[in-house]
Amino acid sequence: MSTTYVVDVIAGDGIGQVVMPAGIACVEAIALAFDFTLTWRHRDWGSERYRRTGRMMPVDGIEQLASGDATLLGAVGAADIPDDVTLWGLLIPIRREFDQYVNLRPIRILPGVTSPLAGITDVDIVVVRENVEGEYSEIGGRMFRGQPVEIAIQEAVFTRRGIQRVAEFAVDQAAGRRRHLVSATKSNGIIHTMPFWDHVVREAAAGGAIELESVLIDALAARLVLKPHSVDVIVASNLFGDVLSDLAAAVAGSIGIAPSANLNPPRKHPSMFEPVHGSAPDIAGQGIANPVGQMWAAAMMLDHLGEPAAAKALVDSFESALASGVRTRDLGGTAGTEQFTAAVLNHMNLVTTSQAG
Ligand code: NAI
Ligand code: MG
Repeated sequence: MSTTYVVDVIAGDGIGQVVMPAGIACVEAIALAFDFTLTWRHRDWGSERYRRTGRMMPVDGIEQLASGDATLLGAVGAADIPDDVTLWGLLIPIRREFDQYVNLRPIRILPGVTSPLAGITDVDIVVVRENVEGEYSEIGGRMFRGQPVEIAIQEAVFTRRGIQRVAEFAVDQAAGRRRHLVSATKSNGIIHTMPFWDHVVREAAAGGAIELESVLIDALAARLVLKPHSVDVIVASNLFGDVLSDLAAAVAGSIGIAPSANLNPPRKHPSMFEPVHGSAPDIAGQGIANPVGQMWAAAMMLDHLGEPAAAKALVDSFESALASGVRTRDLGGTAGTEQFTAAVLNHMNLVTTSQAG
């Protein structure tokens, strides 16, 4: 009997509605070849629901997701609703309630894709971003609105346990790759939390047979542009990891290709998989969004669910389609989302015939 996985689908806003069907079509096709099935629980959560009900998701949204094996998300964000409402009403509560403390973001120059930077041909980076604490905290406030003395204060929260567990995850990643870990810091300017970050990361790396390099975030940003091949695994706080992963993805071709996994490594709760990009209102509804980030996120989900061969076949399929020259506009091609997806499905036939057992 084949295994069935229950996956909650939140296509969300803007191009989330366009790239999600592409991701699902690929997973369905791959599942057929590898003999497992999926039950998709489609959720109409997002900005449209907010306009109707005043909430991005139902009051018991988290409980609804808890019974699933994983969550697949498209994007959230709409021009007429403040971004803090959309993000804190959906995405951030899911990451926190399910203790998805690792945000894993692999970034590579894919076949057939060229970096926008001249001479850069070799990018293969994994960003391990702390995902539930750090700079993105609710502690703080704003006073004297509109007055000249107006003031806003936002506290960053770093805990020993929080840093330690994400650093340990990153050390494991590095151990399975080039044995080199870069820790993003700013301990010269941020004098309490960042020296603490450095200290706990150093402790976590001490046991592993990897080399740890602590690099100031500003220099690291420049290095990702000038010498991205000198970086393998990066561990970074919530804010730094967020910024660096968009930067690295752009260096690798487009933020449309980058995937991310919000992981609860002990597997007590479902994990959530999503492209790195947002709802891209500037191209929403045009059918031209690049679905690779969504497809790659779906592949990471399959890997997490225990289907590594299917995950690899899915990645091989979009790589093979890209290598054949079919590309969306953000990568300099002419294909629309559907046309590109059809090409991936064609290549999947070839890939799975040779790989499925
Ligand atoms: P964005 O990632 O949506 O777009 C940035 C630029 O990249 C745009 O020019 C867009 O057209 C392009 N782009 C993004 N994804 C693409 C794709 N798949 N194919 C082709 N081009 C693509 O970031 P932006 O514009 O800063 O944010 C738009 C909205 O998305 C905001 O409301 C923001 O809060 C939200 N957002 C949501 C995220 C999420 O759901 N995880 C992450 C980032 C932003
Ligand atoms: Mg981001």
